[in-house]
Amino acid sequence: MTKKETITSIQAAKGKRKLVMITAYDALFASLLSPDADMILVGDSLNMSFLGEPDTLSATMEQMIYHTRAVCAGAPESFVICDMPFGSINTPHEALANCVKVFQQTRADAVKIEGGKERAELITHLTANAIPVMGHVGLKPQSVRSEGGYKVQGRDTKSFERVLEDAAAVERAGAFALVIEGVTPELASAVTRECDIPVIGIGAGAATDGQVLVWSDMLGFFEAFKPKFVKRYLEGAKLVKEAMAQYAKEVREGAFPDEEHCYR
Ligand code: KIV
Repeated sequence: MTKKETITSIQAAKGKRKLVMITAYDALFASLLSPDADMILVGDSLNMSFLGEPDTLSATMEQMIYHTRAVCAGAPESFVICDMPFGSINTPHEALANCVKVFQQTRADAVKIEGGKERAELITHLTANAIPVMGHVGLKPQSVRSEGGYKVQGRDTKSFERVLEDAAAVERAGAFALVIEGVTPELASAVTRECDIPVIGIGAGAATDGQVLVWSDMLGFFEAFKPKFVKRYLEGAKLVKEAMAQYAKEVREGAFPDEEHCYR
């Protein structure tokens, strides 16, 4: 099956068209979302929105591979990126072994690695071994405990400069594109200008080369909290609850199944 996008077409999009990225964790939603997406990210956010955990840190390689296989099966034409979970890339050697597992056990097209300068050597090692890497700078959810929370970056000169340096280091290391999360629009704009690779924003304003959202936030299924940057394009949770309540009512009243839904 030919893929709609490749590393080459994604890189060529910079400055020409905005890139649309969305997360998916299963075949069904991947197939529904893929026609309008340029890239599908199997994000470790699945640990929170799918598995009910309080953060992303307990996501495992096995889970990421399992969900990436499902997404690739549901959206065979899509460019699929597997997020490398916390603790799976502690050394270049370990990172390469785990990325090879992703490529051998799924049909993913790339991996995503959270981190800046500190990950540059590791990204160089991966790209030298034919692993396409998308970087992830700015607010890094895998650092939530070491940072003492989710902190928007770029409001002070120190973090502004640090994220700019992180993005440059990740690009130099060979990443083909970059996610920038939870930063001021001014910082995202500066990173987008400075980098030659596509910069995909989440909670980063409108100046980036594309946007990514978590599917269950975008469709209003995840109700636990709604970050300021999330726009709900559907009230999914409300619709599901209304449908379930109607089904339960009809079963209890004996109204379902009716004649139309019976074999004859
Ligand atoms: O895990 C994820 O879904 C992500 C996006 C928020 C970019 O990393």
